[in-house]
Amino acid sequence: KWELEMADVSLERSLSFDSFRLIPARRLLLDGDKPVRLGSRALEILTALAERPGELLRKDELIARAWPGTHVVEENLKFQIAGVRRALGDGRDGRRLIVSNPGQGYSFVADVTVTERPSHQAARASDPLDRKHNLPVRLGSLVGRSQLVAKLVGSLARNRLLTLVGPGGIGKTSVAIAVAEQLIDTYEDGVWIVDLFPVRDPALVCTVVTSTLGIDTHRADPVASLVSALRDKRMLIVLDNCAHVIEAAASLAAAILRGTDRVHIMATSREPLRVEGERVHRLGPLETPPPSASLDAQGALQFPAVQLF
Ligand SMILES: Nc1ncnc2c1ncn2[C@@H]1O[C@H](COP(=O)(O)OP(=O)(O)O)[C@@H](O)[C@H]1O
Ligand SMILES: [Mg+2]
Repeated sequence: KWELEMADVSLERSLSFDSFRLIPARRLLLDGDKPVRLGSRALEILTALAERPGELLRKDELIARAWPGTHVVEENLKFQIAGVRRALGDGRDGRRLIVSNPGQGYSFVADVTVTERPSHQAARASDPLDRKHNLPVRLGSLVGRSQLVAKLVGSLARNRLLTLVGPGGIGKTSVAIAVAEQLIDTYEDGVWIVDLFPVRDPALVCTVVTSTLGIDTHRADPVASLVSALRDKRMLIVLDNCAHVIEAAASLAAAILRGTDRVHIMATSREPLRVEGERVHRLGPLETPPPSASLDAQGALQFPAVQLF
């Protein structure tokens, strides 16, 4: 399914409902013209539902779609559905988009309008798809990372490939988005984040990047045609979640660095890409209060990790 969708980068499908527009190929959900931050699994579930409005989707179908090839318990699905509903404001102000059929599954009850347009077509200037970035709106503020973000902004000016390395959940994506946000005006051809998490087949890494950038390519060699499309661009590409397709991500990054002068790349991964010219930053946890210190509540709030909870 994913492969078919990715193969056809020349027609871009969007699903509109309520105040939202979902563009599956770009992994992008817009509320009006603002991107909504939604994890890859939640986005996959929303896409499955919105593609078949009015139909009942069984829980096992949704689980197979969001966790392909893995066995997960139903609680995970419930959790993701709750996240989707929160992001859509479902149930607030009389909005009704997703209905649960207890014991069976879920259905999407809003009217969905499907539109398609060539991905390279120049649309109206006001079209949010023609904006210069696809960064999601941040839901909460980033705690305790402002010095690091400033440092990385500077580092990216000097290094064309910056990789944020660390274990899952440490804050790589959050920091990368915060850095990228500060650079929107620096790159005249935009700042684009590509989540590689849902990409199971390393051969599709390049295709996903290409379609996220809205570049239309027909040539046989996808990497060469992406690089040639980027040749004169001044752009920041954020490759998020490289770990499971690290070799494909690394060779694509290397090809882009070699074939362009002004495209910069920021990657997030558990491991460095090991590409020439890469600058690696290992992300540490937020500072926490020393265990020995006896602090009152006021004192504890001075530590970034405490402010978070
Ligand atoms: N400094 C921070 N301030 C507030 N929330 C944070 C911070 N760092 C991470 N989070 C939250 O913690 C969770 C995991 O962070 P994330 O950036 O996705 O980690 P990673 O990309 O390393 O897996 C997210 O929900 C994120 O919003
Ligand atoms: Mg991440």
